[in-house]
Amino acid sequence: MLKLGKTIVTSALPYIYSTPHLGNFVGSVLPADVYANYLRLKGEDVIFICGSDVHGAAIEIQAIKDRTTPKDLAKKMHEDIKALFESYGCNFTYYGSTDSEQNKIETYSIFEALNRNGYIGRVEKQLPYCNHDKMFLADRFIEGKCPVCGYESARGDQCDKCSSLLEPSQLIGPHCTICGKKEITFKKTDNVTIKLDKLQEKLQKFVTAGSKNWSKNAVNEAEKYLKEGLRERDISRHTKWGFPIPLKGFEDQVFYVWFDAPIGYIGITREWDARKAQEYWYGKDTRLIQFMGKDNIIFHTILFPGALLGANLGHVLANTVKAYEFLNWEGKKFSKSRGIGMDLKDALGVVSNPDYWRFSLIFNAPESADSDFTTEGFVEAVNKIMNGKIGNLFQRVFTLIKANEDIFDPSMQPDQGTMDKLSALYNEYLAHFDNIELREALKALVAIADLGNAIMSEKEPWKMAKSAKADKAAAKEFSSIMVALEKISYHTAILLYPFTPSSSIRALEYFGLDRAPSLKDASKVPKLNLKKEIKPLFEKLETSQIKKIGSYS
Ligand code: MF3
Ligand code: ZN
Repeated sequence: MLKLGKTIVTSALPYIYSTPHLGNFVGSVLPADVYANYLRLKGEDVIFICGSDVHGAAIEIQAIKDRTTPKDLAKKMHEDIKALFESYGCNFTYYGSTDSEQNKIETYSIFEALNRNGYIGRVEKQLPYCNHDKMFLADRFIEGKCPVCGYESARGDQCDKCSSLLEPSQLIGPHCTICGKKEITFKKTDNVTIKLDKLQEKLQKFVTAGSKNWSKNAVNEAEKYLKEGLRERDISRHTKWGFPIPLKGFEDQVFYVWFDAPIGYIGITREWDARKAQEYWYGKDTRLIQFMGKDNIIFHTILFPGALLGANLGHVLANTVKAYEFLNWEGKKFSKSRGIGMDLKDALGVVSNPDYWRFSLIFNAPESADSDFTTEGFVEAVNKIMNGKIGNLFQRVFTLIKANEDIFDPSMQPDQGTMDKLSALYNEYLAHFDNIELREALKALVAIADLGNAIMSEKEPWKMAKSAKADKAAAKEFSSIMVALEKISYHTAILLYPFTPSSSIRALEYFGLDRAPSLKDASKVPKLNLKKEIKPLFEKLETSQIKKIGSYS
């Protein structure tokens, strides 16, 4: 196998003001985890970096509502969410946080380089200030009547009714959404900007060069911004929660959350291991592969690479930007307040095996278009596919071999046609994974199990086993078929690893393996451990569980 250099896999860093829901999970952390597992399976040198995105106005407001400080809220939620992802089997190399000292150092060094290189500017702006809360209001925390359509609750950045993009000052009779009062004045403020306009050419080169590896939505959106022409963009905020801006006259402002959050990928790697961060982030042979939801595209294709290019400190830029579309819940948007859709805690509370969620979410992932979580689809993935196809195959193959240990000859050759089909599907699996088409890779895996099940029902090897004592030819045929089925099962168990790591390891225990597998293991099927009690790998969902899931609609 071709050995590539180092790989950094990142997932967009989750906000911490609420527990991520299944749509957030399948939109970034889960596919990044699955893909990192795949690279581990291939024996590659990979680190998987994720963590909490703790700054920003939304968190400040949540802290006000919860009567706590953003810092305390962040600390508690960070621990909770990290543990939650781990209980879903996510295997982070490091799960850090964007408010770490290391990220502050990294953010400052990039900012200072940008400033030295002439990419930092200043701009004056009129900003809404709530005299009651004594704070500047981020665009989405001011609401009023839309000047275009008259909708009463248009936000400072956009009207949800007519979709017009707005400036806070355009709202008619605006009020503060924190206190509800209309005590708003507009104040003149000085702000720090990043001159993206001056980075247009560099960014265009970056996008053009990278786009063959990116998802289409990411390429299209980045190209759209470039075509419109990049503009200078404000990166300071008038609040206390964030990293203070290290520039004379701006010390009482902090960086805009989207400035320090993506730098967090580097900061978090530093938090893990400063020396390794240096090796990975500045290495010539490092590939950076970034997973995110589609609403994060502009930040990962323009703002973050723009900051790195302008700073010119030699950081690795994204090789792949993989943006997921959205998952809906039974045709509707996830909404905590309206009780639509499950968050990660809810889901494990009802169905405690995380692999059922991992498998069914990828099986139906919004990889190239929005997709819909339906209770029916979930039940089908778990009952019919995981249990009915994969679990059942293991169960039948292992039991049949165990029951006929005396006549089974593992040295028999399997049928060549079957082996050709297996290797074609195996290659399909690899090709899809290499293109980061996880949903398709999973379908290739299911097709391998299908291959085994089809042989089982066509050949009915248990019948041969019955006549084997008297009939040598039947004994031989039985063994040849079972050798093929054993090999198919073994491959299925290994290739499950990226998607459902703990179920993969449990299945591999029947082959005497008790560790994470690698593709190298696939070349030779170990002897089945027939002493081990054969138990179903998966179980069907119960009616009461199905009903509960249905109640989140
Ligand atoms: N917190 C953001 C979100 O959930 C993602 C941040 S990604 C980062 O949409 F790169 F900025 F960290
Ligand atoms: Zn207010």
